[in-house]
Amino acid sequence: MADHSHLRGRRVLLIVSGGIAAYKTPELVRRLRERGCAVRCVLTDGGARFVTPLALQAVSEDTVYRDLWDLTDESEMGHIQLSRQADVLLVAPASANILAKMAHGLADDLASTVLLATDKPVLAAPAMNVRMYDHPATQANLATLAGRGVVLVGPNDGVMACGEYGPGRMSEPLELVDALADFFAARAARAPQATAPAPLAGRHALVTSGPTHEPIDPVRYIANRSSGKQGHAVAAALAELGARVTLVTGPVALPDPSGVETIKVETAAEMLAACRRALPADIVVAAAAVADWRVAEEAPRKLKKDGGPLPPLRLAENPDILATLATAGPDRPELVIGFAAETTDLVAYARAKLARKGCDWIVANDVSPATGTFGGDSNTVHLIRRDGGEEAWPPLPKAEVARRLARAVAARFAPAVPADPAAGTDTVQPGIPA
Ligand code: C5P
Repeated sequence: MADHSHLRGRRVLLIVSGGIAAYKTPELVRRLRERGCAVRCVLTDGGARFVTPLALQAVSEDTVYRDLWDLTDESEMGHIQLSRQADVLLVAPASANILAKMAHGLADDLASTVLLATDKPVLAAPAMNVRMYDHPATQANLATLAGRGVVLVGPNDGVMACGEYGPGRMSEPLELVDALADFFAARAARAPQATAPAPLAGRHALVTSGPTHEPIDPVRYIANRSSGKQGHAVAAALAELGARVTLVTGPVALPDPSGVETIKVETAAEMLAACRRALPADIVVAAAAVADWRVAEEAPRKLKKDGGPLPPLRLAENPDILATLATAGPDRPELVIGFAAETTDLVAYARAKLARKGCDWIVANDVSPATGTFGGDSNTVHLIRRDGGEEAWPPLPKAEVARRLARAVAARFAPAVPADPAAGTDTVQPGIPA
């Protein structure tokens, strides 16, 4: 029995090509998600004859990507991005046709283009009629692909949909789950063991950062002064401790942190949708300064200054992203951390906010104008935990606040984490920042 713990937090890009076995893929998606994988699907035209995009969308809780030429798909999630945002590609079922395209480098639809553009490992589960499987062309293609490092899973022997018997049945969903787990286990075993495992390895952290922009008309918006420096620093610090990090950020003038998947949004509604897509996660850090209100009806054209009455701005409340993510449910991350920017009664307000939003920890910071926190490079925070613990940290650069927070997160997931070597030889215990 494969060790399925290797699947936690993995991002699988499932490519479903045309074959009767495509009907098994919703089950495959469910089994992978049960084991902590995020699954995104690409469906070929042939695949869509056997399984509906709606079924895959429902079980993956993500968009199903179909068309290379669909401009919406290309701008929102180009074929390069689809591969970049995956840890592994799984082609299941892999028809004789898609195997031939892969072997010969054809790229005439989204699935084959992603497969040609990817630098990620590829597993393929062949499924076809026994004669097609036995054909020397298919066998030569399989040999070519295996020689290039594509991991072939199956096929199984059995009675086929066409009534014939022999090799060609796609491996069952649980066999494919095992194959993926074995693949990641083997890769972990090959990885150099000289260094201690990163304390947040295998954990997925979702971080929000920056302001949101709420459009008034095509040229104007409501915004706030958040620079995103603290949120971006938290994303980088969590990645440094080995977490896979998805950063969902509003508009900021900062580079994307390295080693972090950065998703750029403008409005609160887009930020919530991107966060939902990024689930499941083990850790959420909501550092974004989300606008509380949006303009209820964005003007389709630029509002004119024509000497008449001023245009009315009717506001509507934005969703509370932190409270939504902290709501109990099957996808609730284990540790949800909010920020509370206050100008008076810092700790009391922050504690009330922690309870109201249902988060586990809250980082309270004083943003009175005199502190220069908004837009500045340093921050003075209190870390408040739902179970009572409260720590006042001295004024620190935002990057250092981020590192301490990341170490506290790591300590929450593993009992003791060595402190930053540069800071000395002490050890961080839960609740005691270094
Ligand atoms: O209610 P307030 O804006 O003070 O709460 C701050 C915390 O809630 C921050 O963690 C912020 O990222 C989060 N928040 C959110 N969505 C909102 C408003 C705030 O995620 N609409």
